[in-house]
Amino acid sequence: MKIFLDTADLSEIRRAADATLIDGITTNPSLMAKTAGNRDPKEIYREICDIVDGPVSAEVVGTNKETMLTEGRKLAQIHDNIVVKLPLTEEGLKACRALTDEGTPTNVTLCFSVSQALLAAKAGATFVSPFVGRIDDISGEGMQLIHQIRQVYDNYGFETQILAASLRHPQHVVESMLIGADAGTMPPKVLWMLAKHPLTDQGLEAFLADWATLGAEI
Ligand code: G3P
Repeated sequence: MKIFLDTADLSEIRRAADATLIDGITTNPSLMAKTAGNRDPKEIYREICDIVDGPVSAEVVGTNKETMLTEGRKLAQIHDNIVVKLPLTEEGLKACRALTDEGTPTNVTLCFSVSQALLAAKAGATFVSPFVGRIDDISGEGMQLIHQIRQVYDNYGFETQILAASLRHPQHVVESMLIGADAGTMPPKVLWMLAKHPLTDQGLEAFLADWATLGAEI
């Protein structure tokens, strides 16, 4: 499963990229608003693409097909790795088809149902982003959606990649992997939580203490 970092925070992106742990980046207008300050978001996308050699999702904010296309084309010009993120609406699906036909990769976002995911695939989306955590937030079963989309895409051989999104904790990531999501996007905090285990910490502490009794160097 590809690991994408869900942030526009350049220092977090650098940290994860330095560790060569991430395959790409996803952003959304809220994440950009959190970190951009006075900077032009387009410059930030460019900087992210210089740091990470992989897909970088940049979202349109227009609500009709033509505006989405204009914005999507502008975003795609920033760098070859830009993936144009579009909302799962009728207009977003039409823009997705047009951008796909132009050879521009797309990520259809705000997906909350299997029927929506079916239409994203029919529109030729490169990625579909089902929001697991936000379904859990309203007492739904977010992970069930990933299961069902996987089954539908496999039943019919759709090539759209399932990008499990709104992953809030390591168990979301593990379950996405077990189901066979193609990618998962997570906040930096969740990425680093994946590495943590109390038995690793305890084991390391004991190894170091025992080694210290030798008074030796490697
Ligand atoms: O980028 C989309 C998605 O991952 C947002 O997550 O935590 O805001 O629901 P969240």
